[in-house]
Amino acid sequence: MAFIELKHLQKTYNNQQQFILKDINVDIQKGEFFVIVGPSGSGKSTLLNMIAGLENITAGVLTINGQEMNDEPPRNRQISMVFQHYALYPHLTVEQNILFNLKMRKISKKEQEKLLKDAVALTSLENHLSQKPHELSGGQQQRVALARAIVNDAPICLMDEPLSNLDAQLRAQMRTEIRRIQQKLGLTILYVTHDQTEAMTMGDRIMVLHEGVIQQIGKPLDLYNHPQNLFVARFIGSPKMNIARAICKEQQLIIEGEWKIELPQSIATTLPQQEEFLIGIRPEHLQKGGDLQMHVRSIEQLGHETHVTFYMPQEAWAAKWSGQHEIDAGTTLSISIDPQNIYFFDKETEKLLG
Ligand SMILES: Nc1ncnc2c1ncn2[C@@H]1O[C@H](COP(=O)(O)OP(=O)(O)OP(=O)(O)O)[C@@H](O)[C@H]1O
Ligand SMILES: [Mg+2]
Repeated sequence: MAFIELKHLQKTYNNQQQFILKDINVDIQKGEFFVIVGPSGSGKSTLLNMIAGLENITAGVLTINGQEMNDEPPRNRQISMVFQHYALYPHLTVEQNILFNLKMRKISKKEQEKLLKDAVALTSLENHLSQKPHELSGGQQQRVALARAIVNDAPICLMDEPLSNLDAQLRAQMRTEIRRIQQKLGLTILYVTHDQTEAMTMGDRIMVLHEGVIQQIGKPLDLYNHPQNLFVARFIGSPKMNIARAICKEQQLIIEGEWKIELPQSIATTLPQQEEFLIGIRPEHLQKGGDLQMHVRSIEQLGHETHVTFYMPQEAWAAKWSGQHEIDAGTTLSISIDPQNIYFFDKETEKLLG
């Protein structure tokens, strides 16, 4: 039995026909770091709030630890929450903020002290206990919100974009911190983000949501290597996977009517003949050298890596090469693509072919 089970969960507002979430099915194991990722408006927060008990469930069943939770109030769900806006009480000190819920629950002073000590050590807030939120940096405030969730001692923690207000460096640091605390305490975390890097680096598993529908659930590298449709293929990975229209004529792949690649028979036989489909190629799989001539549109030098974009009829392509390369915009480069690295998608359904 899974720790958290979502069975055919649906959400509509005001009995309208339009689904905000449609037939959500997933089992989450105890101690799992489960990431829900998707673009703005895809239904991530709604799903989290339904699990927390802050939004009602239109249809379907939510169970936690084998018990149906649909009609249980939030306090009975063994859950703590961390939001994007930390919602700290501005007039209370860090210590009072962390202990606020415990005081409301009339937990003994001694127990409060113990929980506070552990949470403060985990979040490295020892030197800030008497400060007020406005005296803290964004990252420190975020850690207070995290400490407040930890002292609640709930086995499940729901996090809704908790790092999106932080700068890039602090975000990277907090990613590791949250993961460390989660593993140390054996917490089950459901973590919402629209940032695919966060999803890839933190999650044991990832669920990709788009317009209220699950696109795919899997381990980070499974999603990266085996995306089931174009949406997942382009959502996971940066720069985005390159796409173009193509047809297959016998064993030749013709991209946008211009670039030709010989396919091994094993691949060619899985493709429709003389009928347009879409191909996808990751930026790191455009190789320097070869017989495809491409025009350089722009170049970005990152020091450890070089990003090049090429003009293409439909949408520019990106290449990502490690190290530093002397290339000028406006020039022509020779490129090759290993057919094994090409993804093929149906033009209408956008599902992976073959
Ligand atoms: N009270 C409501 N009534 C009607 N529609 C709503 C309501 N609340 C949210 N929605 C709609 O539900 C959809 C999903 O919203 P949700 O907040 O879950 O998205 P999200 O994935 O969390 O987006 P973001 O990344 O911007 O936070 C949106 O289209 C939104 O307009
Ligand atoms: Mg949201």
